[in-house]
Amino acid sequence: MSAPTHFLTLMDLSSEQLHGLLRRAIELKAKQHKRELYQPLKGKVLGMIFEKSSTRTRVSFETGMAQFGGHAIFLSPRDTQLGRGEPVEDSAHVLSRMVDVIMIRTYEHEKIERFAACSQVPVINALTDRFHPCQLLADMQTYLEHRGSIRGRKVAWIGDGNNMCHSYIEAARLFDFHLHIACPEGYEPDPATILGSGAEKHVTIIHDPMEAATNCDLVVTDVWASMGQEEEQARRVEAFTAYQVTEEIMKMAKPDALFMHCLPAHRGEEVASAIIDGPQSVVWDEAENRLHSQKALLELLLV
Ligand code: CP
Ligand code: NVA
Repeated sequence: MSAPTHFLTLMDLSSEQLHGLLRRAIELKAKQHKRELYQPLKGKVLGMIFEKSSTRTRVSFETGMAQFGGHAIFLSPRDTQLGRGEPVEDSAHVLSRMVDVIMIRTYEHEKIERFAACSQVPVINALTDRFHPCQLLADMQTYLEHRGSIRGRKVAWIGDGNNMCHSYIEAARLFDFHLHIACPEGYEPDPATILGSGAEKHVTIIHDPMEAATNCDLVVTDVWASMGQEEEQARRVEAFTAYQVTEEIMKMAKPDALFMHCLPAHRGEEVASAIIDGPQSVVWDEAENRLHSQKALLELLLV
């Protein structure tokens, strides 16, 4: 049996595959909006392992499988033997003999790599401490729908050099845009992500958020304390105060610049209400596109 294709980071797909996936996501969205029945995954099952909370990821994957005629099983460490110390490798062997595709949201990225190495079926990264590739599919679809190709555009990442930022770095290389990263000293992304994805020419680290946003086509942010960093919240609020996406920062970007946030958001922390609830924000389309882009991903991996 040949090794399955996994989606642990954006780099698991080629630039061509990713562009094709986005075109397909837009077609699937149109089909769904017409309520056209399309069930290519009848009889197929998605196992969903969640070791962290989720609203969008769980609902989009579960709904996507239902719309495709398949089924999804929600698995939390509280109710499975994974939570009682059954080795990741053993869980991967067992689950992948039963289900057709597995989605995992966990802490250490190495854990999903170990799982995938023992899985007979495709494994999808639904967020680790290091990457959030599914969110990038939705973000890139949203940009394409609103403004056309992102190729050659300038994107400002304002905030923490976190999992989302790392996936933006990979996207910069794969979708060929330039990424300005504005983060406080000590909260930069891991340089290995930049080198590992060959994105050196696509990324500039600029500590000043106003400068980073200047002339950009898209401004993106995310929470200051990610899941698992709750005890650092107070320290981070202090470090990130100057990094809130405000009207002043958005004014530095191009007049038709978009604003994105993967959500959940904290108004008054990483973003001002006037921005996330304002005319440049496309956060609801971004959230909806999780459904359509992940359906395109499931189709690519399984059909
Ligand atoms: N953006 C995102 O992944 O949201 P959830 O944590 O609600 O799944
Ligand atoms: N960086 C955030 C993203 C949530 C979707 C976190 O990891 O909590």
